[in-house]
Amino acid sequence: MQRALTGIKPTGNAHIGNWLGAIRPALELSQKFDAYYFIADYHALTTVNAISAGPGSDAPALLRQSSREHAAGWLALGLDVERAVLFRQSAIPEVQELTWILACHAGMGVMERGHAVKSAKDAGKHINVGTWMYPLLMAADILLYDTHIVPVGKDQKQHLEICRDLAKAFNVHYGENTLVVPEVHIREDVGTIPGMDGRKMSASFGNEIPLWLSAKKLRKMVMRITTDSRGVDEVKDPDTCNVFNLFKLVAPPEHTENLRERYMKPGMGYGHAKQELYEVLDRLLSEPRERYHAWLADPDGLEDVLADGAKRAKVAADATLSRVRHAVGLL
Ligand code: TRP
Repeated sequence: MQRALTGIKPTGNAHIGNWLGAIRPALELSQKFDAYYFIADYHALTTVNAISAGPGSDAPALLRQSSREHAAGWLALGLDVERAVLFRQSAIPEVQELTWILACHAGMGVMERGHAVKSAKDAGKHINVGTWMYPLLMAADILLYDTHIVPVGKDQKQHLEICRDLAKAFNVHYGENTLVVPEVHIREDVGTIPGMDGRKMSASFGNEIPLWLSAKKLRKMVMRITTDSRGVDEVKDPDTCNVFNLFKLVAPPEHTENLRERYMKPGMGYGHAKQELYEVLDRLLSEPRERYHAWLADPDGLEDVLADGAKRAKVAADATLSRVRHAVGLL
């Protein structure tokens, strides 16, 4: 069976964008693929650390907590650990060895164009070496497990291209089957998930709707999504509206069409649309929410699941790493 792999970075709250853009499509793929899904805590460490996070923040506690929460989230949303492998990235430190080996084959120019570096620069942030290495670690994540397909959001496309280029170069120089060149799977129908303010939903913009809010808080949050100021009696444009663009990702097609029609004639206010969005979301999330809290209340059970995942992941990692070590002359 072909292998699908993806990582989710545990920086802060899991939000609706993570779910719709990454978790949900990954869960669908896990029906057809040998799925390897991991909590990218090494990647999170590029920003969640005592220096970058600034004084007063307890970065280690945050990272620990957030890793657990993300793992609990995947399980709550339906990851079946009988079929899929769920693990912490840092449980397989072998990935760092592959990162180094890849680093020795990558030009600096590639790293400078990396989008993690670019957005840190744009935000005027201090850039640590880990951030520069981000795409290499991500390539190592993928290549270490002989991954065939990587489900990610559009924003990760560039990282995947870097990974594919490295794998191809390796195969040219060290032999055809040294690394598996992965395919990217971007769900075009999902695209970018809008946040509260219409920009891409992202914890780094602070515009996210957290996944595990109580029903009451979820409703409050949905009610605060930015819209234009068109009133009940005005015709509205569904396609430029953040509320509608979220709605169509979670509601059944007939319901979406029905809402679209109501946008385009007078009589419906944004408050109505928001209420409907809230109801659809809450219907989808109320059971997972209970399971999520049950997993968090059972940290040992959660660690057992992750340890079992790591054990299975390590088998694949060891095989690839010994092949690569051998190819480059480290053995
Ligand atoms: N960089 C990805 C993100 O921010 C997370 C990630 C880390 C990842 N390693 C990966 C995704 C490997 C796919 C494959 O979303």
